[in-house]
Amino acid sequence: MLTPVPPADKSMEEIVSLCKRRGFVYPASEIYGGIRGFWDYGPLGTALKNNIRDWWWHQMVDCPPIGPDGDPVNILGLDSAIIQNPKAWEASGHVGGFNDPMVDCKESKGRYREDHVSVLVPTDGQGLSYAFVDDRSAAEKKIKRDAKRSVEEYTLTELPAIDVAAYPSIVAPEVKTAGTLTEPRAFNLMLDTYPGPIRDEDAKAYLRPETAQGIFLNYKNVLDTMRVKLPFGIAQIGKSFRNEVTPRNFIFRSREFEQMEMEWFCPPEEALKWYDFWKHERMKWWRSLGVAESNLIFRDHADDELAHYSKACVDVEYLYPFTAPNYGELEGVAHRGEFDLTQHTTHSKTKLDYFDQDLQVRLQKEGVDKDEIKKRSRYTPNVIEPASGLTRAVLVLLCEAFTPTPDRKGSDYVMQFKPKFAPVKAGIFPVVNKDGMPEIAQKLFRELRETMPVETDVKQSIGKRYARMDEIGTPFCIAVDGDSVTHQTVTVRDRDTTEQVTIGLDKVKAYLNEKLDA
Ligand code: GAP
Repeated sequence: MLTPVPPADKSMEEIVSLCKRRGFVYPASEIYGGIRGFWDYGPLGTALKNNIRDWWWHQMVDCPPIGPDGDPVNILGLDSAIIQNPKAWEASGHVGGFNDPMVDCKESKGRYREDHVSVLVPTDGQGLSYAFVDDRSAAEKKIKRDAKRSVEEYTLTELPAIDVAAYPSIVAPEVKTAGTLTEPRAFNLMLDTYPGPIRDEDAKAYLRPETAQGIFLNYKNVLDTMRVKLPFGIAQIGKSFRNEVTPRNFIFRSREFEQMEMEWFCPPEEALKWYDFWKHERMKWWRSLGVAESNLIFRDHADDELAHYSKACVDVEYLYPFTAPNYGELEGVAHRGEFDLTQHTTHSKTKLDYFDQDLQVRLQKEGVDKDEIKKRSRYTPNVIEPASGLTRAVLVLLCEAFTPTPDRKGSDYVMQFKPKFAPVKAGIFPVVNKDGMPEIAQKLFRELRETMPVETDVKQSIGKRYARMDEIGTPFCIAVDGDSVTHQTVTVRDRDTTEQVTIGLDKVKAYLNEKLDA
């Protein structure tokens, strides 16, 4: 078995390089020098992404979990337009509030998110402070050169006596003199576009920065057409766009990405129960992808960190190689209260409340006063939202699976995907390209390919073919040898242990199906 490698010991450089070399992720527009914040998913990356996407849909929409009271939950799927009426984004608060505070450097022309800039401040409070974004060692070097001083590290937002008065003594990243940073300014993260022939302010629309709003805009349609009762959910997977100022860490933060979001509509008094339920269900789901328990944590948002719509929020965080020993965001589970439906009611003048017939009958039975029943049976639902990134989930599985194997002969790396999510399920290899072996391999390939993605290859040594399969995370390699010709058996090699078992040719499909379902 392979020895697990701690995330901090995995190199992002090697992961990115393997992704490019093996067809998982390519820089977008590479032949034109790339375009910052955009990535293309190659054949294997697409397959991995689709496998995660399908599992999310399966677990959310097709076969969702049993609810906290023992009843099945009901979640419907949706695929809304990326571009909606721009008024929707005014109502949602994104036009006015979806901003990151940014600081500019007047000298280097760099622009940084205020909360991403860290500063090394001398503990004696004397002299200059040095700011950095990614590279702490560069700031440390400058300080050492300056004098051997002890320092404390702060983010720009939490500098002691936080105010711009501290700025003149800060030496910004990549510059030599102090005082080049501007005050923080709001920077809207929405990408705009101009559908139709006229390109003026009136024609301006936005590429959605989240899939969630398409769900709120269709809440009434679904309610009116799908015979649903509260509580219920609407789920959507799709592209979102944000004009991220500092896209970075490979596909972690990009300008075009995919989200998997579900809005759970429920009576206000049940909101906390469902918040707790979805929080734990989502953690279970991440573990079902094969992510180690120790690499996932919950992090509750502090009050001053909550998004404009949120009453409470907890993040599921992952131990990425580039955040280790700290964890970084993977999914947010937010209690959005009635914010969105109320906002869209006000802005669109369309009522988005709910008449709770079950509650009405119950209150009648309890003998509650008529006016009171009327008042209580019509309300605006609360929303609990598990919102995750599909492309970020791809990154998590790539990081989780990546295992350097210096001691294994032939392969430098093994991608240890859980077999269910591996892009290719098996490689079928004739040991030599003669003596009836290629024909048997081809026949088996055709049989397996009817139901699962498999590959066959006759070129190079068997060791080299195994090594390629290890690097793309194929869980099984099937060798067709002399015994296959004489006894109709093959050997199946396990990617993680390299152990081989001999089984009959007619048993291969059932054997793989059992392993892939685990
Ligand atoms: N509807 C709520 C919402 O969009 P969010 O925390 O801004 O909440 C949800 O986004 C998830 O989408 C994040 O947890 C992350 O996984 C993913 N995500 C957000 N911005 C991203 C970006 N620029 N690149 C890749 N994934 C991103």
